[in-house]
Amino acid sequence: MTKALTPLIAGNWKMNKTVPEARALAREIRQGLSPSRGVEVAVAPPYTALAAVADEIAGSPIKLAAQEVFWEKQGAYTGAISPLMLTDVGCHYVIIGHSERRQYFGETDETVNRKVKAALEAGLFPIVCVGETLEQREQGRTFAVVEKQIRQGLAALAPGQGERLVIAYEPVWAIGTGKTATPDQAQEVHKLIRGLLPEVAGAADLRILYGGSVTPDNAGELMGQPDINGALVGGASLKAASFLGIINAAG
Ligand code: 13P
Repeated sequence: MTKALTPLIAGNWKMNKTVPEARALAREIRQGLSPSRGVEVAVAPPYTALAAVADEIAGSPIKLAAQEVFWEKQGAYTGAISPLMLTDVGCHYVIIGHSERRQYFGETDETVNRKVKAALEAGLFPIVCVGETLEQREQGRTFAVVEKQIRQGLAALAPGQGERLVIAYEPVWAIGTGKTATPDQAQEVHKLIRGLLPEVAGAADLRILYGGSVTPDNAGELMGQPDINGALVGGASLKAASFLGIINAAG
């Protein structure tokens, strides 16, 4: 039960938006943001638009996030982006372990752990994603799957580093499907995660975001749950009006 935490609403733009489109969306969000609603806002454009969006949100409270990172500092890793490159371009957060990375790009709990450590070491704030598939839920394995992802993804962090984490619970069956977890379904998993954090991350008071078909209509009820401290938004973050609607529902 950690409602004193400032909620975080983060927009994961995934593989959407050219540079001009990203600039326009960032500008619209910036202009539509009501001052100091007590909600933190972040946007995660694709890599190609990070610098342009950094420029658009400069001097605003909106924080920049990347969608992915590699753990090495530099070298012959064609196509990869290092933590330093992200801080250099103005990123505060980085999403790690999204289910789409796990599903399509071979991400495992072990690679999540390496990326989390490297990101923390570089001064980034990781948003670490966990969540079960529909099959795992139907087999009654939700808690076991999420616990394993948390324990392995956050294993062996340096003392004090865990405090800089954000966790995102994103049930895979709710992502992009229009099927949102009910507030009760989400809350019970958030509570499980909250209970693991002191032991695993050395910190209980981390923000735990919910992700999966969040809209302005369902955001308020989800955010009303005791262990839901914000949202990681996909589809509804691609239009300023719906993203701002979610931010307003959280504040
Ligand atoms: P949707 O909001 O489109 O379901 O996506 C959720 C998500 O994956 C955010 O990271």
